[in-house]
Amino acid sequence: MKIISVVGARPNFMKIAPIIKAVKKKKNLTNILVHTGQHYDKKMSKLFFDELDIPKPDINMEVGSDTHAQQTAKIMMGFEKILIDHKPDLVLVVGDVNSTMACAITAAKLNIPVGHIEAGLRSFDRTMPEEINRLVTDSISDFLFTTSIDADQNLKKEGVPAKKIFLVGNVMIDTLLANTRQAKNSRIMNRLGLKERDFALVTLHRPSNVDEKNDLKNIIEIFLQLQKHTKVVFPIHPRTHRKMEEFGLLKKTKDFPRLIFTEPLGYLDFLNLMMHCRMVFTDSGGIQEETSVLRIPCLTLRENTERPITVTYGTNVLVGLDKKRILREAERILRGQGKKGREIPLWDGQAARRIADILSELKLK
Ligand code: UD1
Repeated sequence: MKIISVVGARPNFMKIAPIIKAVKKKKNLTNILVHTGQHYDKKMSKLFFDELDIPKPDINMEVGSDTHAQQTAKIMMGFEKILIDHKPDLVLVVGDVNSTMACAITAAKLNIPVGHIEAGLRSFDRTMPEEINRLVTDSISDFLFTTSIDADQNLKKEGVPAKKIFLVGNVMIDTLLANTRQAKNSRIMNRLGLKERDFALVTLHRPSNVDEKNDLKNIIEIFLQLQKHTKVVFPIHPRTHRKMEEFGLLKKTKDFPRLIFTEPLGYLDFLNLMMHCRMVFTDSGGIQEETSVLRIPCLTLRENTERPITVTYGTNVLVGLDKKRILREAERILRGQGKKGREIPLWDGQAARRIADILSELKLK
């Protein structure tokens, strides 16, 4: 079976890495890796290929950034040509970024079966671009690989037949577990002058948090408060950086040496910081999962999550954008009363192997 697997944006890279390795072990499967080029900066893309030992993409479409419609359309136009040229038996997409949806639609229209890895997650918030990507991708996928039982339930409620759904676990956690030892060797704490459990780690990039001046200003003020109690490390996503500059917030924060800004970090440096920090503040999806497995308290600056298992089993607390609530929860963690979390079923480092086992047994027409 000839597979074309697709990556586009930063969180896709850690998801595809274990799948490529597991598929390679199957004699009856071949894989062509396509990078749409949705993320293109070295620090948002190539660095992850190098660190996670992902082979160079066979094809790079280099679509770059644009509005949602333009980016999606460009990916579809380029990917259609690739599918016509290479005639794969199956297209594999991961996650919920624009590249995921664009490539799934393109394949489905050419009657090529689609496998979606990380299917069934729902925030039930259609103002999030990712929620639209998830709904569309799942509705046209033929094989839906899920990370947790709530995802299976969402899909069944939407009318997806049980035979299309495969509960396999979490490929992002496969990558985490495979890299913790190497991440321990990172020198990032030294470089930033940090001590274990003596700092908070922040990531923010959702349009709903960073695109409006007042919201972003409010968030930055929270961290200005927090740095009185603990150092705060904030690797800035390019989107957030652009907005902070535009709103004059970079200037406002430059006299606070305990609020440490860095460029986007590589996987191993970031994992090292996650393993050794006191708490994480985030609006990312994947980081809610990673902190849960690492048993590091996570405060999610959103009103909802498509990953509720990180709240019920994990270390995640949804705090929205309420300044008082956020600082209260942070103080609780500083007092040593953060959520401890427990093991999440099937997040055991074997998800990609399970997917490859299923793929190698598939009978496609
Ligand atoms: C995208 C995903 C989001 C994911 C995030 C992880 C969608 C709709 N969103 O959001 O789900 O959580 O990636 O990072 O697919 N930019 C650069 N360099 C890059 C890439 C982007 O400077 O390599 C800048 C550009 O100015 C661009 C902006 O960041 O306009 C946003 O990039 P985009 O890919 O549109 O969305 P993200 O916010 O990164």
